[in-house]
Amino acid sequence: MFKGILVHKDEAGYRATLQDIDETQLGDGDVTVRVEWSTLNYKDGLAITGKSPVVRRFPLVPGIDFAGTVTHSSHAAWKPGDKVILNGWGVGESHHGGLAQTARVSGDWLVALPAAFSTRQAMAIGTAGYTAMLCVLALEKHGIRPADGEILVTGANGGVGGVAIALLAGLGYSVVASTGRLAESDYLQSLGAARVIDRAELSAPGKPLGKERWAGVVDAVGSHTLANACATTKYRGAVTACGLAGGMDFPASVAPFILRAITLYGIDSVMAPLPLRQQAWQRLARDLDIAKLETITREIGLADAIAVGTELLSGTVRGRVVVDMQRGYS
Ligand SMILES: NC(=O)c1ccc[n+]([C@@H]2O[C@H](COP(=O)([O-])OP(=O)(O)OC[C@H]3O[C@@H](n4cnc5c(N)ncnc54)[C@H](OP(=O)(O)O)[C@@H]3O)[C@@H](O)[C@H]2O)c1
Repeated sequence: MFKGILVHKDEAGYRATLQDIDETQLGDGDVTVRVEWSTLNYKDGLAITGKSPVVRRFPLVPGIDFAGTVTHSSHAAWKPGDKVILNGWGVGESHHGGLAQTARVSGDWLVALPAAFSTRQAMAIGTAGYTAMLCVLALEKHGIRPADGEILVTGANGGVGGVAIALLAGLGYSVVASTGRLAESDYLQSLGAARVIDRAELSAPGKPLGKERWAGVVDAVGSHTLANACATTKYRGAVTACGLAGGMDFPASVAPFILRAITLYGIDSVMAPLPLRQQAWQRLARDLDIAKLETITREIGLADAIAVGTELLSGTVRGRVVVDMQRGYS
């Protein structure tokens, strides 16, 4: 038996409970992992609260990512003692996830923990930080260089936003952080933001085209913010869309695409192919300032995960939340 969160939906309603789980409940997979650290992403908040239909079978262990040590493996790539990371692949949605002390998954889904990171640091980055890296890789592949101009990061106080700012600033880009929490400006500047703007500048319905401001954009917000980001991106610039914290709609016009030749990249972390994941984690190991990562990170125990997962959706949590899966139990 081990401790974990289970999300139930039955005649008693939708609820998440911290409880004992038996290994026989874990389901399919050729690798078993002792989960050392997990994390709370926006999607985990949705799964824990049931605010959006993220969980697709019940009961289910939520948690879209984890880092830990392999305890059993019949997969050729992994052996007991290997340190591994998992992000996405439907884990925490349709397959039992990371918010339990043991996980069983397909070995094809795992990435080796880079030597630069502890399992705690990997989860401080988590799916949010790995997604931020996917956005940066897309901007680089587009050919955007620091000399091309400012990069806008929206949802700046969130997990994706914080890691994106630290990464981009470390790579020499001039970053403009858009936030609803201007009181956190000092924190955003300590991560490397050159300027901080009020998200209200971007969140209201805007014109099809505005003044050309950004060489590139990392957008975690969607809706009017994404439409306005596209409308104010410079000629031949690029926008990466990875989130919907402000809404799933995209009330835009084609003007930025056909008159300014901007490119909109969709960023998905869940089903990203293994080589891209490996590249993203290697680049995080090379480019992310660990000291900055620590300032983004708040640590909790598994016993607090349900309450903090609920808090996450209120938009008041700053940066990343790591969950010590063994605290109080070992
Ligand atoms: N595509 C993928 O594979 C992928 C992977 C990871 C995450 N995501 C998505 O990316 C988004 C951000 O994830 P996260 O982990 O960074 O979440 P998070 O830590 O909860 O941060 C979201 C941030 O968005 C801003 N925000 C919240 N509500 C808003 C609203 N109504 N209007 C405008 N801004 C709002 C807030 O920043 P400020 O207070 O600074 O304004 C908040 O801190 C989520 O939608 C998540 O689902 C997608």
